Amino acid sequence: MEDIKGSTAVVTGGASGIGRAIALALSREGSRVVIADLDEEGMAGTLGDITSHGGEAAAIRTDVSDARDVEALAEKAWSVFGPVRIVCNNAGVGMFGGLETMTLSDWTWIMGVNVWGVIHGLLAFVPRMIEEKKGGHIVNTASISGLVPNAYLGAYTTTKYAVVGLSETLRKDMRAYGIGVSVLCPMGVETRIADAERNRPDNLKNPGGPSFSPSLDFLGRLIPPEQVAGRVIQAIKKNELYILTHKESIDPLRRRFKQIENAVPSE
Ligand SMILES: NC(=O)c1ccc[n+]([C@@H]2O[C@H](COP(=O)([O-])OP(=O)(O)OC[C@H]3O[C@@H](n4cnc5c(N)ncnc54)[C@H](O)[C@@H]3O)[C@@H](O)[C@H]2O)c1
Repeated sequence: MEDIKGSTAVVTGGASGIGRAIALALSREGSRVVIADLDEEGMAGTLGDITSHGGEAAAIRTDVSDARDVEALAEKAWSVFGPVRIVCNNAGVGMFGGLETMTLSDWTWIMGVNVWGVIHGLLAFVPRMIEEKKGGHIVNTASISGLVPNAYLGAYTTTKYAVVGLSETLRKDMRAYGIGVSVLCPMGVETRIADAERNRPDNLKNPGGPSFSPSLDFLGRLIPPEQVAGRVIQAIKKNELYILTHKESIDPLRRRFKQIENAVPSE
């Protein structure tokens, strides 16, 4: 999608980190940006940064794990700024701990935000985009954990593999409508993800609190979210499926695919 200028974009998780950087980058490219997040104070910050640079933006409080909220977001976005052509399903939460330690509340929370959040985005936006017949682009934020597994990140990995599979298939399904699809798979980015517990609703908290907080060494270098946002803009313009952000992703990826290759029978 070469014509970002003049388009309307929606970015979930736009109050902080990667979503905030994507929202600012889209605005700099000339998009009107609708930011959707739980964090109203954070959204006000992103909104202020966009408007102080002469950009157009709106903030709509949204819980992406709630289908009705995301449907209301799509309706409002259309009524405020007209047809949405770019959707970034980016809101997400992280969680550490062995799979054997995960509670039902853990699974409900992380699946609700990371998987259902993306599905809700599709349900609310894709039929409208198809009906508009103006094409567009969808960016789903996964992670390197959607391509390579890491110990103590099993629940997160489960959700991000789902986002990668969904996005790879969506790209094929959307081709007929001129809608491009990208999936963002970063390693470590300097954001507030390690403090994702701040976003957990009270009814899904664990009585003993989070049990384990490992070092983040396996995430590679921590890069600034602005660098990630730059790659996202490039992928939207060139309709690239995979958005990788760290050159050090290559070794774990090769190891995984080599293992799969080795498992294929020779006859
Ligand atoms: N930071 C990293 O190292 C890294 C690496 C790979 C992938 N990611 C992914 O990037 C995405 C953005 O995370 P980030 O690193 O910018 O973290 P972040 O915590 O800085 O930002 C996440 C945003 O999502 C919002 N959010 C959380 N739950 C929500 C909900 N139910 N409804 C609406 N908004 C909600 C938060 O309020 C926050 O503004 C996530 O999907 C995350 O999994 C991050």
